[in-house]
Amino acid sequence: MSAPKVRTAVFPVAGLGTRFLPATKSTPKELLPVIDTPLIQFAIDEARNAGVERMIFVSHPSKSAIDRYVLDDADLRRTLRARGKAGLADELYEHAIDEDNHEVVFVMQEEPLGLGHAVLCAKDHVLPGPVAVILPDDLILCPKGCLSEMIEGYASGGAGHLVATMDVPWEDVGSYGILDAVSRKGPFVRARGMVEKPAPDVAPSNHAVVGRYVLDAHIFEALERIEPGAGGELQLTDAIVADMGARGLAGFAFSGIRFDCGSKTGMLAAQLHMAKDDPAFNEVIGDLIESTVPPTVVTAA
Ligand code: G1P
Repeated sequence: MSAPKVRTAVFPVAGLGTRFLPATKSTPKELLPVIDTPLIQFAIDEARNAGVERMIFVSHPSKSAIDRYVLDDADLRRTLRARGKAGLADELYEHAIDEDNHEVVFVMQEEPLGLGHAVLCAKDHVLPGPVAVILPDDLILCPKGCLSEMIEGYASGGAGHLVATMDVPWEDVGSYGILDAVSRKGPFVRARGMVEKPAPDVAPSNHAVVGRYVLDAHIFEALERIEPGAGGELQLTDAIVADMGARGLAGFAFSGIRFDCGSKTGMLAAQLHMAKDDPAFNEVIGDLIESTVPPTVVTAA
């Protein structure tokens, strides 16, 4: 039996971005760029390519710059055209969400009560059927798009709630939701449980959940039932676990690479990765490598 279509993507973007202060004092972390492309753009493109119809941004009143970024700005495009920059105006139009083709909803999460609470804020705005959740600070580069791969996997039916997964070093398991995995078949990692941010000595595995989810719509009922968990927050992980008996749970080992752009090292790695493949940056990358190669030491005989 094939699964119903995934028509809604939820983007939890209300977080304060404390790991990137002072930059995030006035710029939402989702607008920090990898070279010239804000993180939120990668997430929007991934959702669009995956065929979602409605995008719900669960944001915060202090982050109105996100609204300005994701929606079309016809005045700015007009100004650019008037200055002979029609190409740039066209590019901006392509990046923005075209409201003729996609519905856009902004919902406010006034208090930082956790990822589970953020997703619950979207409850009254989702279209019928399963829901995708995308965390924009997890940048995932994969030829087809991680969400497209997952939705294809989900459509093959029977997987239950689907969470993107990858192996992380054991010392890092305390930063993630971690799967209690029982078996693997192709990209599917069948799991009998999941725990949010376990200590390494009690973690059931090092199969971490990263920021892409395809969730059965029953997740909202589970989110309404759960109590605060790790860090005193309402955890999406706990709601998935609460509902997995009825719906099932699997990790999805996506192809491609993921950068934790919520951390400085992850963001730097993403920048360097993008730059190394772009001829415009050959020289600067070449100079950097040259300056870090230790000079040959010539010892006197
Ligand atoms: C959230 C989730 C966690 C997941 C992680 C992926 O944690 O709660 O289960 O592994 O995203 O990035 P956060 O990074 O928001 O603390």
